[in-house]
Amino acid sequence: ALPWDLEGRRVVISAGGTRESLDPVRYLGNRSSGRQGYALARIAAHRGADVTLVAAHTADLITPAGVRLIKVGTAEEMRSVMLAEADGADAVVMAAAVADFKPVNRVEHKIKKTERDPEPVALARNPDILAEIVEARSAGKLSASLIVGFAAETGDASSSVLDHGRAKLARKGCDMLVVNAVGEGMAFEVEDNSGWLLGDDGTEERIAFGAKSLLASTLWDSVGRRLSDQ
Ligand code: C5P
Repeated sequence: ALPWDLEGRRVVISAGGTRESLDPVRYLGNRSSGRQGYALARIAAHRGADVTLVAAHTADLITPAGVRLIKVGTAEEMRSVMLAEADGADAVVMAAAVADFKPVNRVEHKIKKTERDPEPVALARNPDILAEIVEARSAGKLSASLIVGFAAETGDASSSVLDHGRAKLARKGCDMLVVNAVGEGMAFEVEDNSGWLLGDDGTEERIAFGAKSLLASTLWDSVGRRLSDQ
């Protein structure tokens, strides 16, 4: 029963947007505020969980009381922290916006202004942290009871946000996926969120439009249920 239903559970949450360095002062980044991840951490701690929050760049947010905060910069840094922290966790929730690409070269000195147009920036793929955690569990390299991903989707002519979410849940191989409808001022840099919570057990729960803490509560309800059924 609330509010201590996550007591004794260890949860690891990623939040914010990674920044991929171009030179000592410049980076490639994204608009993630970290608000959803912080809300997940706050609610989980409030419900008694032992919470580790792995945060890349975020807006100016208050670290929730009782939460262990680990700050990271790049996707590579987040990857190594997440792989270490995920081991033995009851739930791993990847709410971070991880940059898909990074500059091939991180220039050591500040790139100088020139008279001519600069060379294009060559990019390389970043690791998919969520997929790697799932893979490591399958290979028996780490144990984590529930692995939860997030997906920001827009519908298109042929399929809906929900269809994209179902496909991504299967592709990523995680146990649960929160699908957010994005675009037109939804999800990023705002206080509210909405979407679907999909489970690999076939459950599909609509998350009504509302505060990010509401989405967090819905997620922990479902995680708590699944953990106590295991
Ligand atoms: O494929 P897509 O980027 O939409 O997947 C989103 C999910 O995957 C989120 O949970 C995000 O944190 C995670 N992710 C990741 N590593 C990446 C890209 C996304 O862990 N390089």
